[in-house]
Amino acid sequence: MSTIKEIHAYEIIDSKGYPTIEARLTMDSGLYVVTSVPGATTVSTKEAVDLRDQDPNRFFGMGVTHAVSYVNELIAPKIKGASVNKQLEIDKWLSQADGTGNKSRLGVNTILTISQLLAKAGALSANISLYKYINQLYKSVYKEEIPVEKIPTPMFNSINGGAHANNTLDFQEFQIIPSSSFTFGTAYQKAVEIFSELKRVLEYRNATTSVGDEGGFSPNLTTNLDALEILTETITQKKMRSGLDIFLGIDLAATHFYRNGQYTIKDKTHSLRQAEYLDFLESVTKNYSVLVLEDPFAEDDWDGWKKISSKVSSNIYILADEPIRMSKDKLAYAIKEGACTSFLIKPNQIGTLTDVLELVNIARRGNLTYVVASRSSETNDDFAADLAVAIQSEFVKFGAPTRGERVAKYNRLWQIERDELGK
Ligand code: PGA
Ligand code: ZN
Repeated sequence: MSTIKEIHAYEIIDSKGYPTIEARLTMDSGLYVVTSVPGATTVSTKEAVDLRDQDPNRFFGMGVTHAVSYVNELIAPKIKGASVNKQLEIDKWLSQADGTGNKSRLGVNTILTISQLLAKAGALSANISLYKYINQLYKSVYKEEIPVEKIPTPMFNSINGGAHANNTLDFQEFQIIPSSSFTFGTAYQKAVEIFSELKRVLEYRNATTSVGDEGGFSPNLTTNLDALEILTETITQKKMRSGLDIFLGIDLAATHFYRNGQYTIKDKTHSLRQAEYLDFLESVTKNYSVLVLEDPFAEDDWDGWKKISSKVSSNIYILADEPIRMSKDKLAYAIKEGACTSFLIKPNQIGTLTDVLELVNIARRGNLTYVVASRSSETNDDFAADLAVAIQSEFVKFGAPTRGERVAKYNRLWQIERDELGK
């Protein structure tokens, strides 16, 4: 049994240029693990919050020196000497010590750092891969085996809009999703090839090839449907079959263009009421090879969610991000109401690995699938890749197939497929 000898945290800068926490846990054996957590920078009051210094003289108030000192001076001395296998106990203790519903006292950045360190150290001391360790942890708590059979199907962010880019598109993300029949390696290759081709297609149209927060291109297109047209054209250009080899995903993040009960998008000259907007979405799913629709309705428009879930083909995933934001109550409500068929897992919207596994269990019992996602403010940590394999996420959404903080996670999935699942 390995015990915690030392935990040392410090600030690093994330992919959006904001400070976040990285930390190292050294065990009595001398072995150590390092982890860092993404930032919750485009947050709502409805999710767990990062502890930020609010000192306007440093990093526009976004510094995390208080959170770092909580790790080093408050938490580390208390868990020094504890077994690294005490994941559940320490996670629970952290949540209780915080005592708030949204982790605002200690900060979700503080809490998740410790939780990820423990899991990585537990796996290393047991000499097994992190995904296996998390998979076994789930089994030990919920007495349910999740057979690790495949790498989750990746959804690659290709065009950015909405809050993730300063272009004219209303929808936040347009993704390419290789068929789940491909191995991860083949899917990755196809996505990288399509992404390069997309750059050429955009250049040909004199559209800008600058990128948004998650690495997707952020062209100024006239309508949102133009983005779907361009992706479909690019897929065909690469001699791949849209709707057979490659599918499309959209994160509409509809809350951002919803005002006073109406949806305002570039594709229509007037604002749309719910029924009209629903018809528009249905036509999108019929005219394009859409496999996943994330946040098609605003987070509070549950009625719209219920309607779309019963209206569109059951082959299309209705994926909830903003209406749930890793809330157990909201997840239970969405299941009860049949409001979605899948939801996003972002650990830093809740706090600990134990909390994440609890949501996974609620979803599995309710026959809801889930998708592990990175944040727009990311680090090069690949924890999310192992988490996704461990819980056999339906898809993963880690951003574009380029940029370090994105490919760190995709490359880890590729490594697991190549070195472990393939054997
Ligand atoms: P966020 O975006 O990390 O900025 O919340 C990701 C998403 O909306 O899926
Ligand atoms: Zn989203």
